[in-house]
Amino acid sequence: MLKSLEKLEEQFPEFKFDYSPSQRVGGGITKSFDSVVHKNAMLSLSNTYSEGELLEFDRRVAKGLEGQAYEYMCELKFDGVAISLWYEGGILQKAVTRGDGTRGDDITTNAKTIRSIPLKANANMPASFEVRGEVFMYRQVFDEINTEKANRGETLLANPRNTTSGTLKMQDSAIVARRKLDCFLYYFKSDEKVAETHEDAIHLLERSGFNVSQTYQKCQNIQDVLEYISKWEELRFTLPLDTDGIVVKVNNFAQQDQLGFTAKSPRWAIAYKYKTQNALTLLRGVTFQVGRTGAITPVAELDPVLLAGTTVRRASLHNANEIERLDLRVGDYVFVEKGGEIIPKVTGVDSSKRHQGLPHFHYISNCPECGTPLVRKEGEAVHYCPNEKSCPPQVLGRIEHFIQRKAMNIESLGPETIRGLLDHGKINDIADLYELTFDDLNGLEFKVYGDKKDDQSVRTLREKSAQNIIDSIELSKSQPYDRLLFGLGIRYVGSTVSEKLADGFPDIHLLAEASYEALVQVPEIGERIAESVRQYFGDPANQRLIARLTAHGLQVKTEDNKEKASNNVLEGKTFVISGVFDRMSREAIQDLIKKSGGKVLTSISSKLDYLLAGKNMGPSKLEKANRLHIRMLTEDEFFEMIK
Ligand code: IVH
Repeated sequence: MLKSLEKLEEQFPEFKFDYSPSQRVGGGITKSFDSVVHKNAMLSLSNTYSEGELLEFDRRVAKGLEGQAYEYMCELKFDGVAISLWYEGGILQKAVTRGDGTRGDDITTNAKTIRSIPLKANANMPASFEVRGEVFMYRQVFDEINTEKANRGETLLANPRNTTSGTLKMQDSAIVARRKLDCFLYYFKSDEKVAETHEDAIHLLERSGFNVSQTYQKCQNIQDVLEYISKWEELRFTLPLDTDGIVVKVNNFAQQDQLGFTAKSPRWAIAYKYKTQNALTLLRGVTFQVGRTGAITPVAELDPVLLAGTTVRRASLHNANEIERLDLRVGDYVFVEKGGEIIPKVTGVDSSKRHQGLPHFHYISNCPECGTPLVRKEGEAVHYCPNEKSCPPQVLGRIEHFIQRKAMNIESLGPETIRGLLDHGKINDIADLYELTFDDLNGLEFKVYGDKKDDQSVRTLREKSAQNIIDSIELSKSQPYDRLLFGLGIRYVGSTVSEKLADGFPDIHLLAEASYEALVQVPEIGERIAESVRQYFGDPANQRLIARLTAHGLQVKTEDNKEKASNNVLEGKTFVISGVFDRMSREAIQDLIKKSGGKVLTSISSKLDYLLAGKNMGPSKLEKANRLHIRMLTEDEFFEMIK
């Protein structure tokens, strides 16, 4: 529909409105952002950090209002980037950053890609008004971007707020659109008097289609405010975005005007910042993790300590330079902090608590897993273990990468089973997976690790799981070529790059022989990726690996459409999936149905073809299916059907 809308707009430009949904997908390039003067200065709030300071604020408000009764509105303080939106005749005209408070940058093209910012307000709003809010990125979206970056071996982004800020200033709005920013609105201003209080204004925004966070609360007095603060102190960590405090606002607009502003901030509002969640704890030791690419990460092993709602036992130390900068020694008391990042980090040492004579820390010079001397490339902070072929965590990491859902989707094979297979010498690389037999797996003993370091037990793989693994390995052979390419774990080749490479070279053998020049011809393939691809396929060991994978029947070229059609064994059939399954997760089964031409529905009706019934299926679904005589499939029957 969007595509046909775009076509129509091209044909009839007189009907291409600024608020058309076609504006959302981005594509507009902003070479430089125009500077715009704010209609109303965008002041910041003064910060408080304690109950005492907040009580003082309340006394100032009471004094300023000379005995009138007043109420507060409390909201969370979202950790993002402030934005001002100007509407005329209900249509979004401009989106401007805070800048220095007087002037900001015009980022309208980018802001339009944020779907929760209405391009057109949908109630009886004044002819002209301004809305302000906070643009932010959900932690999950941020993590996904970083996972992609990690897969490509790139430097990770620091936190969602900086990423939001960087994203809003990107020149290509199509990339902004892909980054899935969001926005909460918390301020409304208009020359026409349409709201008496902040609460009215918030409700008006809600009614007109603006995204208002449902965490606001009216408070009758400062005691209620303090309660709100303590309620959200821990609860805020359950929200999907970062918050760093709360904002208290005098509710009544006439009273806000009466209180007015200082040079820097309003007298009618204040921010209360939660203390940066940090804790002091003992550094028991430093261990070293070896990643899939051989990168060494030092990890602080800590005395368990409660921080931002979770118990922290380990924290990142980044690299050797960081340890040196902190002059860290085992036995020190260290500050651990939870910033925007999920993994806590050590930010400092409490030197007053240091026992005399703690020895200096010496960074390792050999791989802790395989003993190979580490290397550090010129200008890089990270040490690497160069023993790619036989360093156990690198081998394990490569196999784990290969079996993940986005690659070969061999989900029944978990990390612990892989480790068991490696320990017993049954596999050593990804091609070995396709040579596994039922007997290799049945009865295999493998270790299962608990939360704690020494918490470990031994399990045995049973017949049914062994068969499931064999089946899903077999099934993985039909994963498309670009997934296989991603699964190989070539440095800088994440899932998006794999798709581009597969488009450019529809057969792995063509890709393997492609010259550097041919590689950089492919859209979005730069020098670094091209070099990495050349290096990978230039290695005779990798050439042998590809030959073995090809011999096992994996998809080493882009399927043509004819072949695709013949896989549509579930063409036109509808399914409802319910309960828990042994061989695959529900999501994976869903994918499989879709890939085979079927459709997955969420509710049972008489038109439904099959109910795929797993364990612990809800009784009401079962009852309804029986009543409507819907054909029920067990997991085994389903797999038989698509065999
Ligand atoms: S009200 C004049 N409400 O905090 C007061 N601000 O230091 C306008 N912020 O620039 C701000 N969440 O970027 C307000 N619920 C909220 C907020 C909020 C985050 C940010 C905003 C502002 C800064 C104030």
